[in-house]
Amino acid sequence: LFSYAKKEGFAIPAVNVVGTDSINAVLEAASKVKSPVIVQFSNGGAGFYAGKGLKTSDAAVLGAISGANHVHTMAKAYGIPVILHTDHAAKKLLPWIDGLLDAGKEHFEKTKRPLFTSHMLDLSEESLEENIEICVEYFKKMNAIDMMIEIELGITGGEEDGVVGSGEVADPAECKQIADLGIDFLAAGIGNIHGKYPANWAGLNFEVLGKINEATGDMPLVLHGGSGIPDEMIKEAISLGVAKINVNTECQLVFADATRKYIEE
Ligand code: 13P
Repeated sequence: LFSYAKKEGFAIPAVNVVGTDSINAVLEAASKVKSPVIVQFSNGGAGFYAGKGLKTSDAAVLGAISGANHVHTMAKAYGIPVILHTDHAAKKLLPWIDGLLDAGKEHFEKTKRPLFTSHMLDLSEESLEENIEICVEYFKKMNAIDMMIEIELGITGGEEDGVVGSGEVADPAECKQIADLGIDFLAAGIGNIHGKYPANWAGLNFEVLGKINEATGDMPLVLHGGSGIPDEMIKEAISLGVAKINVNTECQLVFADATRKYIEE
């Protein structure tokens, strides 16, 4: 699907969700425009899905499993292909992925289909060697149950789930190393930021994106921090190999605004 998107010049939206209401909104929107869509959970989003009051160490594992099962049950009724993904698992969140892979293995043995389509490991704050070593180890486990892996090079700026990224642009030569390993898709930092873009934002670095695209061939690229990027920049990013675009903040703001209005009325 990602290779098809890259070849045909479109990107699949990956929308962060926190409950059945936000999942249903994503499914409904995708169904209205007849588009495949990616439903994704951050660790915080999965914990929220389980209930903020649940303090067990596996709350985010249970929340993500419950959310995935909701999607498995509902997607057919909305009539669109849905990819289930988890967002940014930094090194300290690997136990979350371990829990999901245990559940994923069980699900695969029963149904011959993966519970999640893919997980993202974000070891961009670690050394390249460690990033590659850990990702390859997980890549093998995921491949065995028909899953894909997303990894990050360079660092998305801004804040998500309380994690503040410094905003580092990826090195095309390092991106090529990742593509050569056969990793499924790559989030490469190109000046993109989680959360709202500041008024003095320099924009996406298309020169670097072009070089990364050239160096990585058919590998689908991922653009994080999708909220607030002007349409023209989105189009240019897609023309340079971006096949997955993450959106979170925009949906949270609309949801918060609508809730406030409802309370005021
Ligand atoms: P925004 O919150 O800026 O939309 O970014 C979403 C994202 O990249 C999730 O990983």
